[in-house]
Amino acid sequence: EQIEKGGYDHFMLKEIYEQPQAIRDTFRGRMLVDQGLIKMAGIDDHIDKFLNARRILIVACGTSWHAGLVAEYIFEDLARIPVEVEYASEFRYRNPVIDKDDILIAISQSGETADTMAAIKMAKDKGAFVFGVCNVVGSSISREAHAGAYTHAGPEIGVASTKAFTTQITVLTLIALQLAKRKGKISTSDFHRYLQELDTIPDKVEKALNSNDHIEKIAAIYKDAPNCLYLGRGFNFPVALEGALKLKEISYIHAEGYPAAEMKHGPIALIDEQMPVVVIATRKGHYEKVVSNIQEIKSRSGKIIGIVTEGDVDVRDLADHVIEVPDTIEFMTPLLTTIPLQLLSYHIAVMLGKNVDQPRNLAKSVTVE
Ligand code: G6P
Repeated sequence: EQIEKGGYDHFMLKEIYEQPQAIRDTFRGRMLVDQGLIKMAGIDDHIDKFLNARRILIVACGTSWHAGLVAEYIFEDLARIPVEVEYASEFRYRNPVIDKDDILIAISQSGETADTMAAIKMAKDKGAFVFGVCNVVGSSISREAHAGAYTHAGPEIGVASTKAFTTQITVLTLIALQLAKRKGKISTSDFHRYLQELDTIPDKVEKALNSNDHIEKIAAIYKDAPNCLYLGRGFNFPVALEGALKLKEISYIHAEGYPAAEMKHGPIALIDEQMPVVVIATRKGHYEKVVSNIQEIKSRSGKIIGIVTEGDVDVRDLADHVIEVPDTIEFMTPLLTTIPLQLLSYHIAVMLGKNVDQPRNLAKSVTVE
């Protein structure tokens, strides 16, 4: 097992560090930057279905559901297709309205999650076209779907999902860009610009990983906090949910993710000097609004850990700590802002002596309903 961990103390840390390569592997053969092309057989072979779709329904569980939420923001922004994201376990039991003009995208690392599988079968029965985004090749969900695209994250052993999440976002971003182009919703020059920027993301993830030592020090300060709040807006709202999930899964600290502006409708009541608040505040859309959310936290003595764009000064002035990520185009920021949140929860769990790779009560793949 030590050999399999490749010199890392835990599979989770190894998998966090594998993300630059996993994202590159997920691009390979699909993103042809020089030719200004995306090639994805699962989409290209069924392009009419996608171009004529009334809407896209995304179903998933856990971390994969968070990837689905990020995809909702990206699909609607770039490709202008209405998207709904559902927990598979709710969707399948609530008699949803589905018809043959709908596309259901099922996201699943393992490809074996029982509720996601049941949602697929139901959607197929109602005539929808089902597209799978799975990591495990040949898995049940990948076989049940009409078409699909694999993430090429490689085996994920840590129960808390890391590289599967970022590669899911990678695949879904490629799909969104391809559909945006084919629907004529983005210009050729923007499409090229996006491909060129996406191509730099693995290197930028590597840069984000360089904050590891700094993040470990922050973890040491907050490891005994009983609660933690994660806030983000727009594309980074789902990242806040994912950051909170990572912390609770492996450290057993109660954590909640919230849209930053929604804080005033409840969570703000919890903020005092004991409460660490992780705020994703990259210098993009809604930045000023997030800064004013941070001011509200500060005036209630909350401890602020800001995830910011390199060179940021405004948040640095207000926050107790900042963790920088490289600058990028807004819809690509989740691929970078996720990294420090994974490392933060990892270090806290290690310091608390928890079983990082196999947290209590959790399974890597939930095959019971
Ligand atoms: C379990 C795992 C999570 C995962 C979820 C969905 O809860 O512990 O890491 O996100 O199942 O799994 P799937 O394989 O469908 O992505």
